[in-house]
Amino acid sequence: MTMAPGPVPAPTPASHFDTNARRWDENPVFQERGRQMARAIRSGVHLHPGMSALDYGCGTGLLSFPLKDTLGHITLADSSEGMLAVLREKIAAQGVGHMEALRMDLMTDPAPERRYDIIYTAMTLHHIPDTRRILDVFHHLLTPGGTLCVADLDLEDGSFHGPGLEVHPGFDREALADLCLRQGFRDIQFETVFEIVKERNDGTRNYPVFMMRARRD
Ligand SMILES: C[S@@+](CC[C@H](N)C(=O)[O-])C[C@H]1O[C@@H](n2cnc3c(N)ncnc32)[C@H](O)[C@@H]1O
Repeated sequence: MTMAPGPVPAPTPASHFDTNARRWDENPVFQERGRQMARAIRSGVHLHPGMSALDYGCGTGLLSFPLKDTLGHITLADSSEGMLAVLREKIAAQGVGHMEALRMDLMTDPAPERRYDIIYTAMTLHHIPDTRRILDVFHHLLTPGGTLCVADLDLEDGSFHGPGLEVHPGFDREALADLCLRQGFRDIQFETVFEIVKERNDGTRNYPVFMMRARRD
């Protein structure tokens, strides 16, 4: 008997990140941003090879590669298959055994079983509509006393991404700290770690990027 072919699922549209993944690491600003964020994490958190880490919204791993020698197992999670394909090639090319690339969207997928001593996320929080919920999931995934590090844009006027993209226009530090406190985080600290410079119609604009560190109860 010949089976009639079933419906073929429509291909999911390539995201902005899928499309740009191949050329992501060619941008020296992204590279330097990753290095500066890594420096800020290392200076504020005592990292050691006994620690398990989650890099959420990892992209091509520009934050995790500079940290890899000071951490134990690192899960690098992203919703973009394009980013993950580039990342997997980099992990294989460097022969790294303790970095694992995982397609995961914590807003729609079940949370993993594993727990992490540190979760860091770079330039990803503004892409996630429900900030309270993702902080809640991070809290759930951290071991007691674990550290959350969030690097993202300070509150801006929406010109960073321009019209048509539904993202948070950065974050007000006090409001984010308040939300973290309510989700069970303590010892919340901020520092400015980078500045992104963009040419806009009205001239050159500087967009500061903060690093927030917080401890899970
Ligand atoms: C601006 S890029 C930053 C990538 C990387 N962290 C870096 O600093 O180079 C944002 C990343 O977040 C990912 N992302 C966006 N929404 C996500 C979600 N809901 N779950 C997981 N990853 C997400 C994108 O695919 C993209 O790789």
